[in-house]
Amino acid sequence: MIVYLGLGSNLETPIDQLHAAKAAIAKVSGILEVTFSSLYCSPPMGSLNQPNYVNAVMAIETDLLPLELLAVTQAIENEHGRVRKERWGSRTLDIDILLFGDEVLNLPDLIVPHYGMCERAFVLHPLFEISPNLIIPNHGKLNDLVACCPLDGLEILSDAASYLAIASMKPLTHLDLLAMKQRGEKITCLTAYDASFGALIDAAGIEVILVGDSLGMVIQGHSTTLPVKINDMIYHTRCVTETCKHALVVSDLPFMTYATLELAAQNAALLIQNGGAKMVKLEGAKVEIIEFLVAQGISVCGHLGLLPQFIHQLGGYKVQGKKAEAAEKLLADALTIQNAGATMLILECVPADLAQQITKCLTIPVIGIGAGNFCDGQVLVIYDILGMSTGKRPRFSKNFLNDTNSIASALKNYAYAVKKGDFPAIEHSF
Ligand code: KIV
Repeated sequence: MIVYLGLGSNLETPIDQLHAAKAAIAKVSGILEVTFSSLYCSPPMGSLNQPNYVNAVMAIETDLLPLELLAVTQAIENEHGRVRKERWGSRTLDIDILLFGDEVLNLPDLIVPHYGMCERAFVLHPLFEISPNLIIPNHGKLNDLVACCPLDGLEILSDAASYLAIASMKPLTHLDLLAMKQRGEKITCLTAYDASFGALIDAAGIEVILVGDSLGMVIQGHSTTLPVKINDMIYHTRCVTETCKHALVVSDLPFMTYATLELAAQNAALLIQNGGAKMVKLEGAKVEIIEFLVAQGISVCGHLGLLPQFIHQLGGYKVQGKKAEAAEKLLADALTIQNAGATMLILECVPADLAQQITKCLTIPVIGIGAGNFCDGQVLVIYDILGMSTGKRPRFSKNFLNDTNSIASALKNYAYAVKKGDFPAIEHSF
């Protein structure tokens, strides 16, 4: 049975209280931790004369009965010195059973779904972060409830504590991404080229980190990605994988490093063995190369649409697949890439309706950049979302640092906007 717990604290050291509670819950026999949301800061309900709360939502799998679980959560609250006084009073630790599978319970000590949860921003928003497709018994789709629930001062906490939450999570694989596509949960991805950004992106709970050959432009200052060498990619991939605990790291095979089967195998092996990448990405419908790499046990991500390594043939950074014939070719190429054994596809700068069609036809996850809102996930270049890029901002990107004051919360806001389907909006699409 999947159960959702709401955790809150506003006394002593709330962040530590929540992490200690998480660890205590996960240790109970018959309970398996599934996910833990980001930490959120919320103003107190009722009396405002008390400190802000830190809240989170935890998903667990359990075979305990509802009242057995209630006894466990109350024992953990007591161990953390919770004193049951007035209704909206301060508390060192509060653990509420929000949902118990799809059961509706009306017992003297336990009401499930938790009363009031559907009006509370500090419950609905963290719940949405970890399980956006939930249906709340008697209340309907979580998505609709979140849409009607203003944040009311709720903010994602951007402190180092979220590293702890991520550190205890298992590393993601392409199977997790596939499962996300299947259940309709958006996949988040950003590029990173070094350990610090890699760790921050990982801590924000972003599922995929792409060590892109875009580093040729944003790190090395070239006007194209063509000068990037395999050793550059190995170096930057290693920097990222050193600190990344949870996200799946994909690394680009740069220009001309997969021109033959032998070159592709040698260079993909270097990215994996020396760089620590879990998947390699290559541009174009290189069916034979993909089949060959897959046959050696290498996970491959395809890349279609605007192909920066083909820039001199394309004649500029332009939207691809606008004409019917080009759109048909892109769809056919996407299917061949999938049939060749690729486990993910990046679609760059294509019209949103074409990207939607491709996403629907493919069973593997399709991650868009400038490809509209209907892809299974989104990727952007880290420097673009932090407003650090020189030159004209690409239409498909957005500066997420504008509305906040820390990089960590900009990353979380990006992830949240993608998960909620708010990004990309029409103005970011073609
Ligand atoms: O190199 C890169 O960063 C990329 C993304 C833009 C998809 O390929």
